[in-house]
Amino acid sequence: MIDRTFDEYKALFDEHQLDFIPDIDQKSITLYDSMKYSLSAGGKRLRPVLLMAACEFCGGKAEEALPYAGAMEYLHTYSLIHDDMPCMDDDDLRRGMPTNHIIYGEAVATLAGDGLQSAAYEAMQRDMLLYFDNFEALKSRIRAAYEIVKGAGVTGMVAGQIADVEAENKKCSKELLNYIHITKTASMIKAAVRAGARLGGCTDKELEDLTLYAENLGLAFQVCDDILDVEGDQALLGKEVGHDEANSKATYPALYGLEESKKKFRELTDAAKDALADYYDNAELFVDLAEMLYARVY
Ligand code: IPE
Ligand code: IPE
Ligand code: MG
Ligand code: MG
Ligand code: MG
Repeated sequence: MIDRTFDEYKALFDEHQLDFIPDIDQKSITLYDSMKYSLSAGGKRLRPVLLMAACEFCGGKAEEALPYAGAMEYLHTYSLIHDDMPCMDDDDLRRGMPTNHIIYGEAVATLAGDGLQSAAYEAMQRDMLLYFDNFEALKSRIRAAYEIVKGAGVTGMVAGQIADVEAENKKCSKELLNYIHITKTASMIKAAVRAGARLGGCTDKELEDLTLYAENLGLAFQVCDDILDVEGDQALLGKEVGHDEANSKATYPALYGLEESKKKFRELTDAAKDALADYYDNAELFVDLAEMLYARVY
């Protein structure tokens, strides 16, 4: 049962955000500093909040989900550090701060991403080691970790990132655009929700409904990101705007135009809300979140 607000889950996560990074030797301390720099720079914490909320929605406890919420945000932050590098999107601003490579240089930024990725896997595996005498709890953790690893992996986020990079400066079909957005962004959001559901001991119906919610919210989230790159406020977003057009990126506004993109965005947020219509008040946080996303554009 969800009895916390988005901000309460976010505060819980922020309090523990660095807990799952292993003790790094002083001789490698730049690695820790650079990982911490990007993690602590802020961020909406959408994925860890979704993970913890889905866990409680299905009957679990948010505190027990923290290592997986941490893993999710570490993987997301690594993807942002690499996404911003000159060889990819070449951005100077992220989360309201200079990007990792601007502060630390490209070699360290590459390694900060690598470090966050391996810290994510270590966080989950370390947690699993604690549950060898509780097979049910161990099973749900293995399933949750698999959702996360898959969402971030070579058929999820990384697949989307390569398709995104390869689609630059080319004519992109609508089908390819959806593939890019679903893999690079929706797969991480779906992973967060499904991992949380697994940890909370979901029923098959809960998993199915939450998955439909997350697929729609995840695609809506990237469409929103594309729209805000055209007409958003850099100070509010904490990242540069107008870069998609400058980089000739495959985006919703580029393919559909702004008005049609907004229409599709509205349909996707509505579909996300509808997916949880059976749950009334218990799904309030998820429905509010879809509405908050909606309000970023309208
Ligand atoms: C940015 O994600 C990258 C996309 C998938 C669009 P967020 O908008 O969630 O970034 P933070 O975590 O709040 O900085
Ligand atoms: C990035 O999409 C998605 C990731 C997997 C990081 P974008 O390249 O549009 O994200 P922003 O706009 O830089 O945050
Ligand atoms: Mg990108
Ligand atoms: Mg980018
Ligand atoms: Mg973007």
